Amino acid sequence: MLVLGIESSCDETAAAVVRDGREILSSVVHSQVREHAAFGGVVPEIAARNHLMWLPPLVREALARAKISHGDLACIAVTRGPGLIGALLTGVQFAKGLSLAWNCPLVGVNHLEGHLAAARLEHPDIEPPFIGLVVSGGHTSLYRAREWGEYDLLGSTRDDAAGEAFDKVAKVCGLGYPGGAVVDRLARQGDPARVKFRRPMPGKDNLEFSFSGLKTAVITRIGEMGGVPAGDELNHLLAGFQDAAAGALVKKTLAAARITGLKTAVVSGGVACNSRLRELMLAGADKSGVRVIFPSPALCADNAAMIAAAGSIAFERGRRDTLSMAAAARLPLEYRPAAGSGLA
Ligand code: KG4
Ligand code: ZN
Repeated sequence: MLVLGIESSCDETAAAVVRDGREILSSVVHSQVREHAAFGGVVPEIAARNHLMWLPPLVREALARAKISHGDLACIAVTRGPGLIGALLTGVQFAKGLSLAWNCPLVGVNHLEGHLAAARLEHPDIEPPFIGLVVSGGHTSLYRAREWGEYDLLGSTRDDAAGEAFDKVAKVCGLGYPGGAVVDRLARQGDPARVKFRRPMPGKDNLEFSFSGLKTAVITRIGEMGGVPAGDELNHLLAGFQDAAAGALVKKTLAAARITGLKTAVVSGGVACNSRLRELMLAGADKSGVRVIFPSPALCADNAAMIAAAGSIAFERGRRDTLSMAAAARLPLEYRPAAGSGLA
């Protein structure tokens, strides 16, 4: 079963072909980072225009690299939300056009489920139930996956997403946009014990996150230091920030595993590339007997292979969407209320 995945929810345009929901035959991504960098953030209109330009060549390239033709496809899986509406619409309309022209079934995919399904591409044995943590520039949410397609939201951020905090700290420090990866690289050269920040914990007995206070604490500390420090001082500051942010994510994820009794966790999304998060999570999980799966960095960041993986699962379960399927800027992953779970 060959599935074409299409992703255009934010500033990455991507197409991929996946076989049987697990094997990547091709995966191509065009990042628009350079187009948006000058504006210090993603400009929705520019994103939509770029998707329009890149979708046709990327889909052609994905099919060519997979050495297949469109007649071999079982279905077309496309991100239908959440994300920037203009960006989503270009991908959804393009996928509908292909579906009609090629007489090929269409499956709409939730981008967040895509991030979790990415785990299956390298760990084919991964099946629910598991704890899922999606940490990206737009989301920080902890789920219990009961089944593919059935999720309980255990907690999410009350303010900034984790990636947003990394990007804002990077911006304040003059490290460009998006700065998460740069913060990570510099922090690795620093000592997290030199400039300490409190791990942001909004309440003890819940699974929620908060990152805006930590970001403000970093800005305040920079003020106390008389401005953005340079060299090792900056590295220590970033190491302290990164340690606190990663620590909070680890603590809540392992608490979710403990409360639910689940022994597997999937951590995905752009921030899951973070080296300190990986280090602390794997160490903590080892101690608590939890198996944590981090997709490799290229599959944690936005890509279309994860959309094809999630689309394959839905297609196998009989899901078919029509040409009236709408893109949705807001699209919660939790379809079912957590009735009787005691966690809601
Ligand atoms: O999943 P993603 O590619 O796009 C969204 O759906 O948001 O995530 C992008 C986010 C950005 O905020 C970026 O700064 C952050 O992931 N990021 C990182 C690292 N690599 C990317 N944050 C911390 N450490 C990293 N190594
Ligand atoms: Zn994403």
